[in-house]
Amino acid sequence: MDDRPIGVLDSGIGGITVLKELKKILPNENFVYLGDTKNFPYGEKSKDEIIDYTRTNIKLLLNENVKLVVIACGTATSQALDMVKTEFEIPIIGIIEPTVNYISKLKLNKIGVIATTGTIRSGVWEKKIKEKNKNINVINRACPLLASIAEEGKAKSEESLKAIHEYMKIFKEHNVDTIILGCTHYPIYNEIIKNEFEYDVNLINTGISVANDVKRLLEDNNMKNNVKNGEDKVIVTENISEFDKKIEKILKN
Ligand code: DGL
Repeated sequence: MDDRPIGVLDSGIGGITVLKELKKILPNENFVYLGDTKNFPYGEKSKDEIIDYTRTNIKLLLNENVKLVVIACGTATSQALDMVKTEFEIPIIGIIEPTVNYISKLKLNKIGVIATTGTIRSGVWEKKIKEKNKNINVINRACPLLASIAEEGKAKSEESLKAIHEYMKIFKEHNVDTIILGCTHYPIYNEIIKNEFEYDVNLINTGISVANDVKRLLEDNNMKNNVKNGEDKVIVTENISEFDKKIEKILKN
């Protein structure tokens, strides 16, 4: 038994889509969520900057006495996870590995990946997917506007509809029926993306696989909390208007 909280980090509100899945299957855990609002957006930043932010964020979470860190951010997972794993002793889980393990069981031969520019540039999703199945066809599309639009609370605007229409074209052309939401802000657009397709597209929410892996890790190491004994906490690196309201909205939807 370990009643220390679980730390969850992202550049902004995106990681809340992961926190939501964690809370569903780990109701007795306490959570500390860190939104690195000061450095948002991560999508276009250099690898060195992302490593630097991620390292600092993990230290902030360690000050909160967390027992495990979830990097609920595709950009930080793709560019900083390997490095920070060598620097800290507590378990650190990103969003890519758990999701790739899950989709490898689906026996797909074609898959779409949408993510930030930095994540797509890193090529990590495609590399990891092909390590499991070298014959799979991976179609990548960076969606640079989507994290910022979601962060501004404009996920249902004309702007987002237009951007999503453009970003989904390549997947429609290739009749892709499964798309990984490789940025944790994107489940906020679930319905809008689905509506773009005339067929039933399967959108992979990374938070679900991540939550299952976290649960397994806690169980295997006897680290679960028995009874919820604290309030969840939210930390931001810079105050953002209505951050709490935006979080509440994602958790409730
Ligand atoms: N939620 C993020 C991700 O999963 C970060 C988006 C951003 O800061 O640009 O990549």
